[in-house]
Amino acid sequence: MTKVAAFHMLAAAFFIYPFLFSFSFLASGDKGVETHGVFGRIVDRKLMGLKKEKLTHFKLYWQEVVSGKKPTSIRVVQPVNGSSISFGLVQMYDNTLTTGSDPGSKMVGRAQGLFTQAGQNVVALLMAQNFVFLQGKYNGSTITVLGRNPVFDAEREMPILGGSGLFRFARGYVQIRTHTFDPKTLDSIIEYNVYVLHY
Ligand SMILES: *[C@@H]1O[C@H](CO)[C@@H](O)[C@H](O)[C@H]1NC(C)=O
Ligand SMILES: *[C@@H]1O[C@H](CO)[C@@H](O)[C@H](O)[C@H]1NC(C)=O
Repeated sequence: MTKVAAFHMLAAAFFIYPFLFSFSFLASGDKGVETHGVFGRIVDRKLMGLKKEKLTHFKLYWQEVVSGKKPTSIRVVQPVNGSSISFGLVQMYDNTLTTGSDPGSKMVGRAQGLFTQAGQNVVALLMAQNFVFLQGKYNGSTITVLGRNPVFDAEREMPILGGSGLFRFARGYVQIRTHTFDPKTLDSIIEYNVYVLHY
């Protein structure tokens, strides 16, 4: 190979390869993505339709049915041996969320998740749950609640970590109170005041 040929090959490599890469990015529809290993970019939030953050309040009742033929909440892991307060138990649930405390009132969503009794000396549940809304404009949107629930406190609070659909970028908290607890059936109705910031 002559020196001139080698020079042309090098030149081709340096000038043509960047073009090839940029064309492949254009072809994939990723306009504005830089080529040299950068996979993130700053996006104007207005272009995503994110204008003003709103605060929405929902008052819901969380209906947990443990007893009977159609429980909505089922124990999936037994507590550790010898714990008088059920440390370690895991309960999985798909409870309804209603607008009134009466279980027959309008169902607007479901609380799907699990809790475990995470306190060794005090009853303090670790709860991880998604609320999926099933009515009106919220239908299909979700919020995610994760937190500590010391169930014998009159009022408890847990954070909202995020959401989907109408609740993208959500944050906030829930304040909850036991409305009814039946010690015989273990069924409970919990009042949830949900405060969620979202766009
Ligand atoms: C729990 O305790 C019961 C009764 O004492 C015993 O039969 C069982 O093997 C224990 N289970 C475990 C996992 O230690
Ligand atoms: C909610 O959305 C689902 C799925 O798109 C649909 O089947 C259902 O009818 C909707 N419910 C209401 C009350 O709009």
